[in-house]
Amino acid sequence: MVACSAPGKIILFGEHAVVFGEPALAVAISLRTTARASPAERWSVNGRFLDDSHFKYVKSAIERSGTIGPLKLIVESTIPEGSGMGSSAAVTVASLGVLHTSSHAAEPELIASEAFDVEHVVQGRASPIDTSTSTHGHAVLVLKKKGPDFLWRLQKGERKWFLHHRDVPPMTFVVGHTGIEAATGPLVDNVREFCERSAEARKMISEIGEITLSGAEAIKEKDWVAVGELMNRNHKLLNALGVGHEMLDRLVDAAMPFSYGAKLTGAGGGGSMIALTDKPDETAEAIESAGGRAFKVLTGQRGMEVMIR
Ligand code: PMV
Repeated sequence: MVACSAPGKIILFGEHAVVFGEPALAVAISLRTTARASPAERWSVNGRFLDDSHFKYVKSAIERSGTIGPLKLIVESTIPEGSGMGSSAAVTVASLGVLHTSSHAAEPELIASEAFDVEHVVQGRASPIDTSTSTHGHAVLVLKKKGPDFLWRLQKGERKWFLHHRDVPPMTFVVGHTGIEAATGPLVDNVREFCERSAEARKMISEIGEITLSGAEAIKEKDWVAVGELMNRNHKLLNALGVGHEMLDRLVDAAMPFSYGAKLTGAGGGGSMIALTDKPDETAEAIESAGGRAFKVLTGQRGMEVMIR
């Protein structure tokens, strides 16, 4: 039997803008997905057929990795699905981890590259931030060109992303899930259409890129007040790009009195928000009272790892 695990993630700055190649910063969080594989007579995932629509990412990971099998796969996760905490990326990365380890161990760069392809196939236009953060762990900074602590480069057509390791101090975030499911693909498409017809929208995308770089510096300095203000600015810009939701604003407003800053995280349109806080219990309670589901998460977690070989 082979087992691998991979963490979920939250995007601190730069979602949507990163699809256009702008900088973004994501951190691996303390919720994980585990995948186990053992030889079997036929392919199955959690006792079901591979064609089950629930396992699109796993099936695509099998195809992309070229695994011959057949294998019996068990995939378990503590990351709520459709919550903006990277559950599909973690499922993809943990699956690729066991699929490769069943034959020969793979380098993280290969896993990150294949996981990005899988997300692209299943979900459409995307950036590699979720899958690379789940693979590498800790924090991942996406830049337009190679900088210090460079990890790997990924490309789709003309678009290129340079992924970097980033040391971040331990931080506590409360994630507030709205309970509203919103698919990433259509939201990304809407932003693309908006940018095609509006110079104002394109300006907002580059402004988000600048906020990300300032945010990464402020985190390094542990200037939480500055980080919070930048999160609030990033949230306003995401709203202006049309990926906000009334419920997200309600949860952001509820968290603010106990937080340095708060913003939507991931694709938006529902999904989740995050609040940076040193009062996680009060923040979580405020989010729950406003109708959200709160999760306290810690940053700086390990990336994909082989647990049993
Ligand atoms: O909500 P998620 O985890 O699917 O985040 C999507 C982040 C986007 O920037 C909107 C898309 C992407 O692939 O980067």
